[in-house]
Amino acid sequence: MRQKIVAGNWKMNKTLVEAQSLTSEIANMVEDEGPSDVKVVIAPPAPFIYAVENLIPEMGQIVLAGQNCHLEDAGAFTGEVSAPMLKSLGAQYVILGHSERRQHFSETDEELAKKTDNALKNDLKVIFCCGEPLEIREADTQNDYVTKQLTNSLFHLSAEQFKNIVIAYEPIWAIGTGKTASSQQAQDMHKTIREHIASKFGQDAANETSILYGGSCKPDNAKELFSQPDVDGGLIGGASLKSRDFTDIIKSF
Ligand code: G3H
Repeated sequence: MRQKIVAGNWKMNKTLVEAQSLTSEIANMVEDEGPSDVKVVIAPPAPFIYAVENLIPEMGQIVLAGQNCHLEDAGAFTGEVSAPMLKSLGAQYVILGHSERRQHFSETDEELAKKTDNALKNDLKVIFCCGEPLEIREADTQNDYVTKQLTNSLFHLSAEQFKNIVIAYEPIWAIGTGKTASSQQAQDMHKTIREHIASKFGQDAANETSILYGGSCKPDNAKELFSQPDVDGGLIGGASLKSRDFTDIIKSF
């Protein structure tokens, strides 16, 4: 059985007190209502990770993630956050390769391969994002585009290392736009991604890899998306900022 995962990427939102309130609300709702077989990952802005860590229960269903890390452990990189720092704050995961990082901070596949190596070396699991822009979808070349992203950044890993990778497919045209991929579009791409993983790491590894969908996932469309055979959960942006919506998404399996 693959791990079901719902991850909330708060992006650059919330103040300290707001972050603490939201974390407490989510923790309480998940404890009261949430299915216990869903791993819940919360990715607050890095400055808040330590401040919310003591607000989540110790059982391990809810874990914390960074939204990015540098490819080096330490050094003269003003303003950056390293994987050892995230780990020391209590994070178990890090999101890498989000399209906003690729677009606004010019992250390349090659750089993301190095960041992935560094995160894994520091004992962080990686939620690796991939996804095509609108023009690629319109040209119907999204499968080549996405599989190339994965090949370039992840296919140098060993099978053992790959066990610590979660894939998040996020079509860029669906992020924050209110325009969700149809459940069939999501399923088709997730199946393609799983087959691509199998071609390199074997069918067993592919079957065990959680592949999340991201892009305007909300309580009213999560159930249909999560019912697809290759959709193992979601990477949620806007709707993760509201405890009610986020918990309802967690309950959508
Ligand atoms: O990381 C999350 C994704 O970018 C999705 O964001 O749910 O606001 O569309 P969204």
